[in-house]
Amino acid sequence: MQEDLFSAANTQEDAVKIRAEELHTLLHRYGHAYYVLDAPLVPDSEYDRLFRELQDIEQQHPELKTADSPTHRVGGAPLPEFSQVQHGIPMLSLNNAFEPEEVQAFDQRIREGLERDENVEYSVDLKFDGLAMNLRYVDGILVQAATRGDGYTGEDVTENIRTIRCIPLKLHTDTPPAVLDVRGEVLMYKADFQKLNQRQRDLGAKEFANPRNAAAGSLRQLDPKIAAQRNLRFFAYGIGVLEGADKPEGHQALMSWFKSLGLPVCDEGALVSGAEGLLARYEAVAAKRDALPYEIDGIVYKVDRFAFQDQLGFVSRAPRFAIAHKFPAQEALTKVIAIDVQVGRTGAITPVARLEPVFVGGVTVTNATLHNEEEVQRKDVRIGDTVIVRRAGDVIPEVVGSVAERRPPDAQLFVMPQACPVCGSPISKPEGEAVARCSGGAIKCKAQRKGALNHFVSRKAMNVEGLGEQLIEQLVEKQIITTPADLYKLGLSSLVALDRMAEKSAGNILTALEQSKHTTFARFIYSLGIRHVGESTAKDLAQSFGNIDALMAATEEALLEVNDVGPVVAKSVREYFADTLNCEMVSQLIAAGIQWPVQAERSAADLPLAGLTFVLTGTLPTMGRDQAKELIESKGGKVSGSVSKKTHYLVAGEEAGSKLVKANELGVPVLDEAGLVQLCSRNPDEKN
Ligand code: IVH
Repeated sequence: MQEDLFSAANTQEDAVKIRAEELHTLLHRYGHAYYVLDAPLVPDSEYDRLFRELQDIEQQHPELKTADSPTHRVGGAPLPEFSQVQHGIPMLSLNNAFEPEEVQAFDQRIREGLERDENVEYSVDLKFDGLAMNLRYVDGILVQAATRGDGYTGEDVTENIRTIRCIPLKLHTDTPPAVLDVRGEVLMYKADFQKLNQRQRDLGAKEFANPRNAAAGSLRQLDPKIAAQRNLRFFAYGIGVLEGADKPEGHQALMSWFKSLGLPVCDEGALVSGAEGLLARYEAVAAKRDALPYEIDGIVYKVDRFAFQDQLGFVSRAPRFAIAHKFPAQEALTKVIAIDVQVGRTGAITPVARLEPVFVGGVTVTNATLHNEEEVQRKDVRIGDTVIVRRAGDVIPEVVGSVAERRPPDAQLFVMPQACPVCGSPISKPEGEAVARCSGGAIKCKAQRKGALNHFVSRKAMNVEGLGEQLIEQLVEKQIITTPADLYKLGLSSLVALDRMAEKSAGNILTALEQSKHTTFARFIYSLGIRHVGESTAKDLAQSFGNIDALMAATEEALLEVNDVGPVVAKSVREYFADTLNCEMVSQLIAAGIQWPVQAERSAADLPLAGLTFVLTGTLPTMGRDQAKELIESKGGKVSGSVSKKTHYLVAGEEAGSKLVKANELGVPVLDEAGLVQLCSRNPDEKN
């Protein structure tokens, strides 16, 4: 008995030891992939979790904290291609907090450490999700830039850093310190990241998983010309070696000094008091996180006064005077249970990853779209794979990529089905197109039918309020309706018979349907869901043809005459009306009472902006982009997205960019907002 107990204790200790060793191996591997290869194997949140687990184990079993434990180190070894730089003062890391209690405990420790009862003043910075960098200025000149590396030795990336436009090559002062180490973060804005990935796709090159990897990848380029094209940014947030000048009193004062020296400092920095101040700032920043142009993964609390910081000092890898309060992760790992396909309203077949439920970006995610077959191949996602799922803000969840390391031997490739899972019709993928489609059409395929109905009632189409997806689902499944025309035949009795439908809501739906009958010709065309006919094409068609009979009878040649209508759209419209079932449905809709104001006699051609094409750029003083567009269209003009020889006017506001340059090159006249308003109010007879 005694012996049994003893061996049980032994096995438990063995288990902890084995786990610690496992964690060493994992963390070393992940750290290497992240810091040295710029190709992370797991999201940061996963790394942080494992790191903490190991820290906890080591705290309880100090004998397990061996000399080679990853917790001793801050990163990985530098790449051999760049020469190495020894940091004058080590670039250490930060401890993390996730919960308010941990923040309170941090504040408590600080006050105890400083032996203070009153509130401590903290500087709160954003925690930029980029790469830490040390910039060395000697006599005010930037002489060297080095990455953090393992915290003690980094890589010399001076040539690349010199290409970053916001970093001053010379400090803005006549009395520079002899030596100044500026610490901060190099990062890439979200918009620049999107553009870069688009370019990578166009070139058939590998995409970057996130802006941080893109920034890291750019700095790792041995050819500085590449870094120069990447539009990297920098924010200063700390100081290393300083010689020949007095250090300011605290962090806020340091930031002001940096600013005066021409160094980029983020405007979101704040000075707060006590734990309450910290937590309030956390909420405020969390609320605007998604609206920031760059990614942050939390905020950093720092005791403001340097004298206090020195008093508090450091523990192994991190300062005692600062802590990072992290936001909930926007990336997480989960498993792909299956890859199904969904059928859209035009028959488009979309592969969807069914996932083991995972909490990410504040919600539980169980599905993520994979867009199309090519995307599945490009991201190399297989059934059984562990994948990185990302959900930022309100954006729909997406699969960033698979973790090749964790692929089980029986992982299965996705195969596009031959037949539609809903109606069984053959699936085909026209040459040169990315999207595979069900050939059943709305008549045979229930999925397409539902899609068409949902589109018909949607806000920008017939705008039938209160008629949602679930209702359409029921109406189709119970075979109460098949086409949009059937919607107008619905009566109270058939609606009340549906699940969870009270008489009052049924009545509201009938009223909404009745109201939707008064529409515009453009909305009506759009609501038919003709392939390639979006909102703007629908407007063009409505304006050119004026009535439904003319549109239905239009030949391909006549359609090609319409502004912005090319062969693809013309063919699609022609095919739609060549189908007698579609024509019948349109007649039924008109017979049901759908109507729109007939275009006034002196319409189109007589409006002040008729025949003129405009392009909008920059920020106008009073009008929003949509407002300006509406104004131009209501006066008979057209708004196009890009400047060409066919553009009649460019309407430019503040911060107009490349479009203004192009307009000047092509000699396109440029108007400001006032000029546009003036043009709109001119007498049409003045037209030239
Ligand atoms: S201060 C001695 N401030 O977070 C502590 N770090 O986990 C020095 N980071 O390597 C760090 N934003 O890459 C500080 N406003 C900020 C930061 C920040 C991002 C990063 C930095 C550092 C890591 C620490």
